[in-house]
Amino acid sequence: MSIKQLPSTFRKLVVNQLSKSFRDVVSIKEVQMPKPAAGEVLVKNRFVGINASDINFTAGKYDPSVKPPFDCGFEALGEIVDIGSDTKLSVGQSVMYMVHGAFAEFKIVSASKVLPVPYLGSEFLPLLVSGLTASISLDQVGCIKSGETVLVTAAAGGTGQFAVQWAKHVGCHVIGTCSSDEKVEFLKSIGCDRPINYKKESVKDVLKTEFPNGIDVIYESVGGEMFETCLNSLALKGRLIIIGFITQYHSEKPLEVKPDLPRKLLTKSASLRGFFLLHYFSHLPEYINKLIALLMKKEIKSFVFPSTFTGLEMIPDAVESLYKQTGHGKIVVELNAEK
Ligand SMILES: NC(=O)c1ccc[n+]([C@@H]2O[C@H](COP(=O)([O-])OP(=O)(O)OC[C@H]3O[C@@H](n4cnc5c(N)ncnc54)[C@H](OP(=O)(O)O)[C@@H]3O)[C@@H](O)[C@H]2O)c1
Repeated sequence: MSIKQLPSTFRKLVVNQLSKSFRDVVSIKEVQMPKPAAGEVLVKNRFVGINASDINFTAGKYDPSVKPPFDCGFEALGEIVDIGSDTKLSVGQSVMYMVHGAFAEFKIVSASKVLPVPYLGSEFLPLLVSGLTASISLDQVGCIKSGETVLVTAAAGGTGQFAVQWAKHVGCHVIGTCSSDEKVEFLKSIGCDRPINYKKESVKDVLKTEFPNGIDVIYESVGGEMFETCLNSLALKGRLIIIGFITQYHSEKPLEVKPDLPRKLLTKSASLRGFFLLHYFSHLPEYINKLIALLMKKEIKSFVFPSTFTGLEMIPDAVESLYKQTGHGKIVVELNAEK
């Protein structure tokens, strides 16, 4: 596409009020098409990724200093359509990026923040926030080793699918929790050794009976009762990585810390370890290249949620869909679809 064909305006999603009710506080705004400055590129977004924390962002939980109106959306994949001076990138290149304000038809991004991808395929986008969170946290924070037992909660979800596959790739025995038989079949298809449908089986009982020595590393993103079960299932020197606590995202109540936590950890020499992707930016190029290479060699798979979401108008539907717990894989919305 030549730069001359760009429209004079584009649309983006704007947050008008702080709230977790995503649909109620976002609206579409039309703005002037910007020109990239030195060191910047203009990306025409083709796909944007939906994340559980999109509602935490609209509520101002990520950055308490934000004042509405502000832009939202964490990640996108698209084509460079204009470049500023001082960049080695070129018009027509397919790239993805993690920058706040990705829910937009076009986005100015610093050239240092874009990651080239082989082509405009939606399957690359799940590797970004979801794949990087899984791979970096399991390696750098969970310190997983071949032969260890790894438990992944919300295993069939956007990031869970990569936690399962990354741990299998390292040579671990992987257990995954999910809420339906359809997700159990999906987990089997990506190599999960012991999927548990928690609607049919008690996670606590399965872990106690089938893994009496406990679990070495736990990738925990659910919180509440699931967190308690995980904590109580740790092996000696076990590591529980706190990835999230989605069951509490709609609640305003502060998280409860159990008074017997120090005893539980000390008596097993176990540890609780937090992980937040943005604190691991220096690992990003290494891990995204590994993930892309594994995907291209078909050694990992990248699943996009089967429903079709198209256009900025459908982003609220896509966010709500994540919380309905149906389907598996990463939820992606297509923008600027080829007509
Ligand atoms: N720390 C970081 O840097 C980082 C980065 C990315 C994501 N995360 C965290 O990773 C987790 C997953 O995020 P994601 O964007 O990949 O979403 P996702 O896993 O695609 O979707 C959420 C899944 O969580 C499970 N779930 C269990 N209880 C739920 C509840 N009460 N409400 C909604 N879902 C529930 C559902 O799977 P089942 O129905 O199978 O239980 C659901 O499909 C979140 O906690 C998120 O905050 C953290």
